[in-house]
Amino acid sequence: MKTYNIAVLPGDGIWPEVCDEALKVLNAVWKKFDTDFKNTIWYIGWAWWDKYKSHFPDETKKLCDKSDAVLFGSVWWPVDEQFEEKWKNCERDSILAIRKYLWLTVNIRPAKVWPKLAHLSVLKAEKIPPTWIEIVTFRELSQGLYFWEHTTFEENWELKARDICDYSESTIKHIAKFCLESAKISNKKVALVDKANVLDTSRLWRKVVEEVKKDYPEVQVENWLVDNCAQQLVKNPGYFDYLLTENLFWDILSDLTSTFSWSLWLLASASFNKSWFWLYEPSGGSAPKYTWLNKINPIAQILCVAMMLKYSFGMEEASKAVENAVNETINAWFRTYDIFRELPWEILVWTREIWDEIMKRV
Ligand code: IPM
Ligand code: MG
Repeated sequence: MKTYNIAVLPGDGIWPEVCDEALKVLNAVWKKFDTDFKNTIWYIGWAWWDKYKSHFPDETKKLCDKSDAVLFGSVWWPVDEQFEEKWKNCERDSILAIRKYLWLTVNIRPAKVWPKLAHLSVLKAEKIPPTWIEIVTFRELSQGLYFWEHTTFEENWELKARDICDYSESTIKHIAKFCLESAKISNKKVALVDKANVLDTSRLWRKVVEEVKKDYPEVQVENWLVDNCAQQLVKNPGYFDYLLTENLFWDILSDLTSTFSWSLWLLASASFNKSWFWLYEPSGGSAPKYTWLNKINPIAQILCVAMMLKYSFGMEEASKAVENAVNETINAWFRTYDIFRELPWEILVWTREIWDEIMKRV
């Protein structure tokens, strides 16, 4: 029997509860597929600040180092209280710090419309093509505006702030290769999203992607300016398959595409580095006001588990079993409150009940 070690870092707010549900799914899976998972639940963010006085302590780093994958939740940051040590730079020093520490360069975020949730989508029904299942985005996660210098300083008797955007050829090449390779295998077209009419970093992206494309003559790659792309994503979403872009642009556009399925709590995401080490995180924030109310939708986190089975452990069949169980539960009209619209055939359920329904189907 194979044994895998998973570092579970729920963060704060709703995620300890939701990670709990996801781990129960994982435990059911290993029983069926003759694999053993060892989970170590540990700390990131501010939740244990009083003990560690750090948002990403050494113990957490060591745990990541000796694990086979990381299951992450989310970290919340009350912007208004940013000057207290406990909160100051909490997201930078936890979420961004772990991405940097593990050097996660590629983040995949599928945006998807489930047929039985299409009435929730912000898109009009006629905008959802019958064959359109999802747009997959490849977001560069380790460089760009988020990762270089951030400074606030005084000059000429006034305050100024500066954030620097920086990209290197090798980083762009790594994500471009992975994206084009995936596009080749699944016969999809790629939109490279940038602001090349203004930014040097965008021009470097175009140059490197053009170079990489020489090895993939069969893959169609188009250049899109980010503002135009945002407009077309809403006007004509069925046009796009794979989107490839830098850190900031996709942070913004991914929240836009999340409205296609309506709830961020339906969308999983996965990131990996050059050594094929993966971290899985749901797309939503940590919604502290719902903590331990048993109301939250655990589907994003459960789909993270499905992604982990596939990408980290090559367990395609197990991954499909989890994904199908989620799809069947949605198709059987079980709804947590975020996706419940009081339709007569919908069944409103608590977190633990929807988990139960998914488990019955795994
Ligand atoms: C995301 C989040 C993070 C990001 C924040 C919390 C730093 O918005 O994963 O999309 O911008 O990357
Ligand atoms: Mg974001």
